[in-house]
Amino acid sequence: MDVRRLDPADRLQWGPLWQGYLEFYEHELDEATTDGTWARLSSDDTSVVGLGSFDGRELVGICHLVFHPSTWSTSSYCYLEDLFVRPDRRGGGVGRSLIAAAAGEAEAAGASKLYWQTHTTNDTARRLYDRVAEHRGFIVYEIDLPG
Ligand SMILES: CC(C)(COP(=O)(O)OP(=O)(O)OC[C@H]1O[C@@H](n2cnc3c(N)ncnc32)[C@H](O)[C@@H]1OP(=O)(O)O)[C@@H](O)C(=O)NCCC(=O)NCCS
Repeated sequence: MDVRRLDPADRLQWGPLWQGYLEFYEHELDEATTDGTWARLSSDDTSVVGLGSFDGRELVGICHLVFHPSTWSTSSYCYLEDLFVRPDRRGGGVGRSLIAAAAGEAEAAGASKLYWQTHTTNDTARRLYDRVAEHRGFIVYEIDLPG
């Protein structure tokens, strides 16, 4: 298994994994948003980075990172926004290796923190997260805005 940055040629393989991830969250996105997301993930934009786990040439997992400034540090923080492993490839260490690669990518970019969130009911993901990171007790509040 090889984890590398996604590039424009990966679009066809990335599409079904992204769709699977949206379905996992029972969320629909219009095509323009998906196209815009892919454009940023696969471009030279250093604030949005897409990583893919490949078995040979086959894409089996994806991970999307967003870098942003922090008021608590002069370094950036890295938010791991999306993580998805193809259902038939789960339980084999792909998710774990994507998180490790994300940490490597964030460190190489000079970030001082890698963090992410998940739903309290996502027991499978939390089993992995509890092994590789710390839950420090924070919970998330949200307001949807028109923009
Ligand atoms: C969460 C997810 C990314 C994990 O990916 P994965 O490749 O299956 O994870 P790994 O194989 O690296 O698992 C790592 C650890 O978690 C545990 N684990 C993962 N899936 C498990 C399962 N179905 N049952 C029991 N344990 C599991 C394993 O014990 C493993 O620990 P180990 O390496 O010490 O044995 C994957 O299940 C997924 O895509 N889920 C749907 C989308 C999702 O929930 N994304 C995260 C949203 S925040």
